[in-house]
Amino acid sequence: MSHATQGKVSASAVRPMASGRVFNFSAGPATMPLEVLEQLQADLLDLRGGGAGILEISHRGELFEKILQESEDAFRKVGNISQDYAVLFLPAGATQQFGMLPLNFLADGASADYPDTGVWTSKAIADGKEVGKINEIWKGADFGYRRTPRAGELKTTPGSTYLHYCSNNTVWGTRWVAPPQPAAGAWLARDASSDIYAEPLDLKGCAFLYASGQKNLGPSGMTMVVIRRDLLKAPVRKLPSMLRYDEHAKAESRLNTPATFGMHAVGVMCQWILRQGGLVEMQSRAKTRSDLVLAAIRNSNGFWKANAESECQSFVNVLFHAANPKLEPLFLKEAANAGLAALAGHKVTGGMRASMYNAMPVEGAKALADVMLDFAQRNG
Ligand SMILES: Cc1ncc(COP(=O)(O)O)c(C=O)c1O
Repeated sequence: MSHATQGKVSASAVRPMASGRVFNFSAGPATMPLEVLEQLQADLLDLRGGGAGILEISHRGELFEKILQESEDAFRKVGNISQDYAVLFLPAGATQQFGMLPLNFLADGASADYPDTGVWTSKAIADGKEVGKINEIWKGADFGYRRTPRAGELKTTPGSTYLHYCSNNTVWGTRWVAPPQPAAGAWLARDASSDIYAEPLDLKGCAFLYASGQKNLGPSGMTMVVIRRDLLKAPVRKLPSMLRYDEHAKAESRLNTPATFGMHAVGVMCQWILRQGGLVEMQSRAKTRSDLVLAAIRNSNGFWKANAESECQSFVNVLFHAANPKLEPLFLKEAANAGLAALAGHKVTGGMRASMYNAMPVEGAKALADVMLDFAQRNG
């Protein structure tokens, strides 16, 4: 089986638990809270007693206006986002932002700084280079992508327009301990696709943040963009309207017929986060879950090895390998039999990856840690 196939929740390979659901460690689309799924299920058939479901009502109608406002309000409330920033719900995933960001802001003759911390930043760099001058100011490949830059290691470029970084590297399971400092006069752009709302949001010094939905926020195909209002002006070059942030902001994320279901789902997910106790609680759960899995690695007498260096270990993506990689397919099979799904690592890393976003119960991490230690004991 290829790694790509192993990563999927396959109905035949994974034995669900008595609840009928599995602990789903997929990196995204990822597990969602049952409560949220049930709310969305009901809203598909009948939204607020209007006799029509969320997929059926006009994006310009009064009811959807209210739904979208509620989603934005809940999203702002969770992250404590002030009106200094616009919040946009945009299509085409986080990948679309790799191109839109430089298209809007990187003028001819100017440059932007991009530390490369693995796969997603490499893609952002490649797309950025299609538009203008990208300074690759740090190369994670030199460190096997096992860590992010240390304090003082980054050399920014004087006169650069912005610095783009990815705060949590989903594929390699590393995170930045503190945000990078852009060059004087430059602003910070953050890809927060996998760590948004898994911890309190700090927008200090950050002018532009984007995150795809399918990890901590719900549906795929939907990207949240948080953009400081002073950046909402005509782009540095002529662009079609769908590629312009200022146009999306003017049209309140409805330049075209948007992904209405996704916009609603993000709101329902944010309301769930608020009911759970907000981001302090989300952070505490994320730490508990990752600590459980990391303790299993530490206590395995070298049977399991973590990928990331410990100071920049991600709280939401834990990558690990078996010291004897030949045992990994058997482990994945046994884990699937125990109802632990989608643990195969990304195709570029191999090994295992436990993605544990907001909706992963702490019991899921506990079950994984138990299975890891039991497997190590029997096969070590
Ligand atoms: C950190 C990061 N950035 C960007 C992306 C790309 O997101 P999308 O597939 O929604 O375009 C991903 C997807 O997993 C990601 O993890």
